Amino acid sequence: MSKIHNAFTVLMGIPTPVVAAPMAGASGGALAAQTSAAGAFGFVSAGYLTPSRIQEELSLARALLRLTETDPLPIGVGYLAWQLEKDLASAAGLLNLALSNKVQAIWLAFGNSIGRWIDHVRSYDASSGREQRTLIFVQVSSVKEALIAIHDWKVDVLVAQGSESGGHGHSAAPPLLTLVPSILAVLPKDGPCLLAAGGLSTGGHVSSLLALGVSGVVLGTRFLMTEESFYNEVQKKMLVMANANSTVRTMAFDRARGTLDWPEGVDGRAIYNRTVKDMDDGVDIEIVRENFNKAVQNRDPDQILVWAGTGVELVTDIQTAQDVVRELHADMMEHLTLVSTLIAA
Ligand SMILES: Cc1cc2nc3c(=O)[nH]c(=O)nc-3n(C[C@H](O)[C@H](O)[C@H](O)COP(=O)(O)O)c2cc1C
Repeated sequence: MSKIHNAFTVLMGIPTPVVAAPMAGASGGALAAQTSAAGAFGFVSAGYLTPSRIQEELSLARALLRLTETDPLPIGVGYLAWQLEKDLASAAGLLNLALSNKVQAIWLAFGNSIGRWIDHVRSYDASSGREQRTLIFVQVSSVKEALIAIHDWKVDVLVAQGSESGGHGHSAAPPLLTLVPSILAVLPKDGPCLLAAGGLSTGGHVSSLLALGVSGVVLGTRFLMTEESFYNEVQKKMLVMANANSTVRTMAFDRARGTLDWPEGVDGRAIYNRTVKDMDDGVDIEIVRENFNKAVQNRDPDQILVWAGTGVELVTDIQTAQDVVRELHADMMEHLTLVSTLIAA
């Protein structure tokens, strides 16, 4: 198989510059392991999971990748920094769980003390006496945040998240095609690898972003639409049916389910339905909550939560994670070949 050779693929030791995002409520050990097994890189989301559930997912990934207890684990774990900040007493334990499982990378986003968690990971590596250096991924949505991640935190991988993204993001995030060049303009030559996230779902998207200057991409929604993601059949069917006009940025679902500790300015992109409409129309919050909880029990597509990015329109079936990576790789190569033929001799 032909490979992409750039700073990111060399850093990660992978042929395909694609990352499956850590998606709270959706990315477990099977999704991460199968993504990495196919030559991209997968994350488990610690999200809202308990320590024992995180360990189960990491053990599942280890088993699927046929690794021994002591082998490094070629997947990452993503943390919602505000969840770590909510309970400082247990935060170190949550991070150590991933570190003691020798994951290749830690992903941090959405918090006010991200530097503190990065210091923790680096101290763990230094004091453990092991050779492995855990790679730090941080997701940002502005040049201001990017500069902090580059210069103060010295992250290994910076993820630029545009407004097209599925799931949570900054409500003021610019579109990806504006955000990426803005960050590239301030990225030092010896700076972190830059990845692009938001609304990407095809190999053509991947090759376009590589041509723009990033060294890899992060896809969420495309990997939600896999056999391995935790989304149920109704949610997956809603994703298959969705088109480019189906998604909206909103806090309606967070208000309905009571997840309100996100940092200021964060909302999320999801499929529009009656929960959003009722919230926008000013229906009493207790009624919206009651209806939402009932809908979750009954899997009612009119009201349940389905996070999705704008690229959802271009995905029309549910595949295995390995097939998604293989398809993206082949499609990306075809587009890159096409682009190279445009250059006159
Ligand atoms: C269901 C879902 C859950 C997500 N959970 C997280 C998360 O826990 N942490 C995080 O940093 N980003 C999370 N994201 C955002 C992704 O990191 C990424 O930016 C986004 O999926 C990219 O856009 P796309 O979905 O259009 O590909 C989530 C996205 C989705 C779709």
